[in-house]
Amino acid sequence: MSDIDIIESDIIAAITNIRSLDELDALRVAELGKKGRVTGLMKQLGKMSPDERKVMGPRLNQLKTNLSSAIESRKTVLETDALERQLKSEQIDLTLPAPPEPVGALHPVMQVFEELSAIFGDMGFAVAEGPDIEDDWHNFTALNFPAGHPARETHDTFFFSPQGDNLAKVLRTHTSPVQIRTMTENKPPIRIIAPGRVYRNDWDATHTPMFHQIEGLVVEKGIHMGHLKGCLIDFVKAFFEVDTVEARFRPHFFPFTEPSAEMDVKCDRSGGTVKIGQGDDWLEVLGSGMIHPNVLRNCGIDPDEYQGFAFGLGVDRLAMLKYGMPDLRPYFEADPNWTQHYGFRPWLTPSVSGGLSE
Ligand code: PHE
Repeated sequence: MSDIDIIESDIIAAITNIRSLDELDALRVAELGKKGRVTGLMKQLGKMSPDERKVMGPRLNQLKTNLSSAIESRKTVLETDALERQLKSEQIDLTLPAPPEPVGALHPVMQVFEELSAIFGDMGFAVAEGPDIEDDWHNFTALNFPAGHPARETHDTFFFSPQGDNLAKVLRTHTSPVQIRTMTENKPPIRIIAPGRVYRNDWDATHTPMFHQIEGLVVEKGIHMGHLKGCLIDFVKAFFEVDTVEARFRPHFFPFTEPSAEMDVKCDRSGGTVKIGQGDDWLEVLGSGMIHPNVLRNCGIDPDEYQGFAFGLGVDRLAMLKYGMPDLRPYFEADPNWTQHYGFRPWLTPSVSGGLSE
């Protein structure tokens, strides 16, 4: 075998053993590059006699072609292998079942809103709404809060900066302004509830700066305190899903009702949770009263002809009581684990006849 044959089979054997594209390239440079053995042989051509060159020239060219094509075909093999390995690593098994769809849950506050609408809807109440940004007239003045009266301060109001001559707007501190809007826009008889967001500058385990209330308003001829009591006792029984409940109406003060009363119900706090309809403790559930004649007059209703009652309750607290949430703050943290634990199936529509919470 000539030197050329030895070099050729030597290099071809090395090419066949190469495992990576980098190594292959390194070999190409080493063997066919300027300092490589093949170039070395080419350089010798110049020193040869014309006859020798005639034989060696084509042979060396042949060597270069053979080596280049061996490198090319090895390159193709290595590239195909690499691609195959990549495809294998990225393979997706389409036969696997799809991961389960995340299931949403209805927030307990929304659930309680639905329950309240079902109960009061059953008693003939319609749902009314008002804006979250209110003016001083609807939130305070028309509700018989005199200017500068200390009752305004107990509300920890969020005020907007005044614009021009207008009085500062406020984030409504209660749903009672919807009473005013309803009574100025509609003629009695009126029977509405107004669920919604309200705002007060307060923040601890049982108070958040935004919370939820539901207002109730009834204006008809001949309405008296007995109607208020009957309606609210029926409501508490339906809401807590109990057959009997003992209630007491404790005198209180609201500027927009006279007389005013807070409603307490008998409950049992012994087991760490609150059970309504049993026990010897009292639990405050809502504020209520007969609509103050000034409020009726402010809305263009003659208090000698029409009377009415109103009530307002905190929905977040009511949800805590019924469903045993110990802290109010997670209500607003949007933690999916909490919502899954305390939330409700979204398509479960509460109804008085079909059941509220089941
Ligand atoms: N608006 C009162 C409050 O936020 C509740 C209330 C409403 C009281 C209607 C009486 C009548 O505290």
